[in-house]
Amino acid sequence: MQNDSFLRACRGERPERTPIWLMRQAGRYLPEYRAVRARVSFEELCRSPDLCAEVTLQPIDRLGVDAAILFSDILVVFDALGVDVRFEPSPVIAAPVRTRADVDRLQWIDPREACHYVYAAVRACKAALADRVPLIGFCGAPFTTLSYLVEGKTSREFEHVKSLMFCEPGLFGHLMERLTDLLIDYLRGQVEAGVDALQVFDSWAGALAPDDYREHVHPHTARLCAAVREFGVPLINFTRGNANLLAFAAETAADVVGVDWSIELDRAIDVVGPERVVQGNLDPFALLGPPALVERKARAVVAAGRRAKAHIFNLGHGISRHTDPTIARLLVDTVHDA
Ligand code: CP3
Repeated sequence: MQNDSFLRACRGERPERTPIWLMRQAGRYLPEYRAVRARVSFEELCRSPDLCAEVTLQPIDRLGVDAAILFSDILVVFDALGVDVRFEPSPVIAAPVRTRADVDRLQWIDPREACHYVYAAVRACKAALADRVPLIGFCGAPFTTLSYLVEGKTSREFEHVKSLMFCEPGLFGHLMERLTDLLIDYLRGQVEAGVDALQVFDSWAGALAPDDYREHVHPHTARLCAAVREFGVPLINFTRGNANLLAFAAETAADVVGVDWSIELDRAIDVVGPERVVQGNLDPFALLGPPALVERKARAVVAAGRRAKAHIFNLGHGISRHTDPTIARLLVDTVHDA
């Protein structure tokens, strides 16, 4: 690997320059991404391995980041359930899964078959990257995946998934269990296809009260992390939306704890402990501010990260599509120079 600073930090080392990549670094803020999307739909793009590779590499060239993340989506795994999802661009599931009869209709196809195009995209990305930087694969965490399945769209109040969890905890637990098995298989396939690291996105965990998270969600995420670590590549566990859940994230076997922007990084390090590697956590919308502010805030996050065992710089959530790519480049250069 020509630039292995990201992988070294995942293992707890301190490379000379703080490694940086950005969640959603391939996306609509890049004109070259919008040019590809003018020709193909998001669904087609995810199912075209060569185009996935092209888009995955766009931010590597333009921003100079230290890792690539596979271009795909956490919801394409629904192909393994026989559940149809459209992106408008927000995800829409025509037939959400809310009753025992709905659960019984799920198909549970081997992801190697149902999601063959994801693995082909991993191989295409690896070939195109030619070991310049590592490739990160990913999936949604069991709760975030289940939330989309049950809500049928990005939800504000999570009334359907919470009703299921509180009214039918047995059915909820059964579905979490089976989704966790599916996601473990799905990630195993990504490692076999060649990814160098993995990230689990629990984007909606923050919708839950900590005691409900502990009882209904944490055991499944912890099982997934423990199983995936056996695959031999570093694992990042990113839990978003409530810094009170960081202590749970730190209890999993993941190598790296992802931190969102709802907490100062030095306080997050106090919670997870100085022996953990952290990733984060600049507010993505800070990039809408002037260059001097971006530089100042980036340097503050790098400085705070020095107290952790190791630190991978990232945003506290995905980059906004309103971001100027030259500001994103300034961020990367500032972090490398700090
Ligand atoms: O990070 C990367 O660059 C890799 C690609 C990636 C996408 N989605 C591309 C995408 C990754 C890692 C994801 C993960 C994902 N998808 C998450 C977890 C991270 C997070 O943001 O919390 C979630 C919750 C989803 C579900 C999803 N897919 C949503 C909510 C949306 C709409 C987002 C929006 O900005 O409107 C999508 C569609 C999607 N996934 C787009 C992209 C680039 C926009 C689609 C388009 O090009 O029109």
